[in-house]
Amino acid sequence: MGILDHHKKIEKHATLLLVLSFLVVTIGGLVQIVPLFYLQNTIEEVEGMRPYAPLELAGREIYVREGCYVCHSQMVRPMRDEVERYGHYSLAAESMYDHPFQWGSKRTGPDLARLGGRYSDEWHVAHMRNPRDVVPESIMPPYAFLLDRPINGEHIADLMSTYRIVGVPYTEEMIATAREDFLAQADPEADTSGLLERYHDAQTRNFDGQPQLTEMDALISYMQMIGTLVDFDTFVRDDSR
Ligand code: HEC
Repeated sequence: MGILDHHKKIEKHATLLLVLSFLVVTIGGLVQIVPLFYLQNTIEEVEGMRPYAPLELAGREIYVREGCYVCHSQMVRPMRDEVERYGHYSLAAESMYDHPFQWGSKRTGPDLARLGGRYSDEWHVAHMRNPRDVVPESIMPPYAFLLDRPINGEHIADLMSTYRIVGVPYTEEMIATAREDFLAQADPEADTSGLLERYHDAQTRNFDGQPQLTEMDALISYMQMIGTLVDFDTFVRDDSR
């Protein structure tokens, strides 16, 4: 009974209980947090990941602005049904340049983490204009107005500088050429060699089929590259950690 008698003292003494609880929580917290200070990186680097090209980044901003994440997650979980439906499960590194990340468990619509290349640009334009034209039972809202909203990239360099503050490794060169790259990606006439050197495998073409550059171009350029940067035919998991 001895030890329980001592415990009774703590239970009857509010201040002592408070001080000792605080102590226990502090130790528990330190044990969890301190090791993280000594890790170089909590994300395993994976070949193929690069920051978003300017037009893709603008498309991603539109995705976030329109709240697409309310119905769509971008995280394939490593479970058989998901992998069979969507493709290779998502890696942490695939979201390393996402601020904010687009994980989630709320799926009114399907997961979009492996969307890139699944449909043609024309399909996306038709689907965005009115989802029910291509998927009759769809409950997704239409976003046809994106076709009527021209963009010119006037703030893209500022946006990329802001992303740099939160750790996305945009170089001085990338920021200096941001607007040029932004315009070049959707312009079939433009010289895209610089763009491709800075952002490997960036897809360049007129995405929405209209002569002017619109928010639809940006959104489709983003959707067509989601989940395509890591080559899963050559990816090997690092089990040594
Ligand atoms: C109210 C919920 C809702 C919102 C908001 C929403 N979607 Fe959807 N989305 C759906 C549903 C449901 C489907 C499945 C039916 C279909 O294909 O239309 C879908 C399907 C899709 C597909 C086809 C995916 C596939 O693999 O077949 C894409 C691409 C897509 N949505 C993109 C977007 C984008 C981009 C936005 C934001 C601009 C958005 N959605 C906003 C509900 C939503």
